[in-house]
Amino acid sequence: MTFLERIKEGRLPQHVALIMDGNGRWAEARGLPRTAGHRAGADAAERLVRFAGERIGLKYLTLFAFSSENWLRPRDEVEFLMDLLQQLIEEKTGEFVEAGIRLRIAGDLDTLPQPLRETVERSVRQTASGDEMHLTVAINYGGRQDLVQACARIAGDIEAGRLTPDLIDERAIGSRLHTAEIPDPDLIVRTSGELRLSNFLLWQAAYAELYFTDALWPDFTPAELILAIDQFQQRERRYGGIRGERE
Ligand code: FPP
Repeated sequence: MTFLERIKEGRLPQHVALIMDGNGRWAEARGLPRTAGHRAGADAAERLVRFAGERIGLKYLTLFAFSSENWLRPRDEVEFLMDLLQQLIEEKTGEFVEAGIRLRIAGDLDTLPQPLRETVERSVRQTASGDEMHLTVAINYGGRQDLVQACARIAGDIEAGRLTPDLIDERAIGSRLHTAEIPDPDLIVRTSGELRLSNFLLWQAAYAELYFTDALWPDFTPAELILAIDQFQQRERRYGGIRGERE
């Protein structure tokens, strides 16, 4: 039995979220500009989406592509990343539709360059009936910002008389986050040896298994994803209760 067959026999995570880190270092190690690392990172992401959907059968995959803190990078690099994201989403939309991949974006779209925003909105609309795999790309996303905008929406709903304070519960918050339509991640993977969440899905990560690897993102192959899922399957998840609960 292959490794892939083995993990498919076990309980698969419903939702895997990936913090794609290390593109810059991958390029620097080769004497290349950082942008070459992002391009290689985009290829890795593409391979992985295909593999996760077609070969593993993962239902929900989330990619952290641009954080609300990434604006602090040099302007050229930010522009390159915005163009790359636009190009990728534009290019892949047809394939997404054919493969039944539904695209969602998590993050604040308002401050993105207009062409990227339009491309993203079009792709989200065109892929809306896909149900084979739900792909969420986090762009201009920050976990704290996500919570802040959820709080603001709750306040607005109270002011408008649609909600009362006694009805504020976890669902009230969760349903106002950027990820309202998708389940919380079961497994969060971060590449490049950094051991942090870096403001990614803070609320949603409450019970996620965390997996860290030294591989730089462009080197994160499908085999690496299988390793991460294998680790996930070996861990015991208790949600603060006793063994077996909720499993
Ligand atoms: C982290 O590497 C990577 C990013 C900030 C950008 C990731 C985006 C892509 C690879 C585009 C592909 C996206 C999709 C949705 C297909 P880094 O620059 O932080 O690397 P470093 O830590 O080594 O500097």
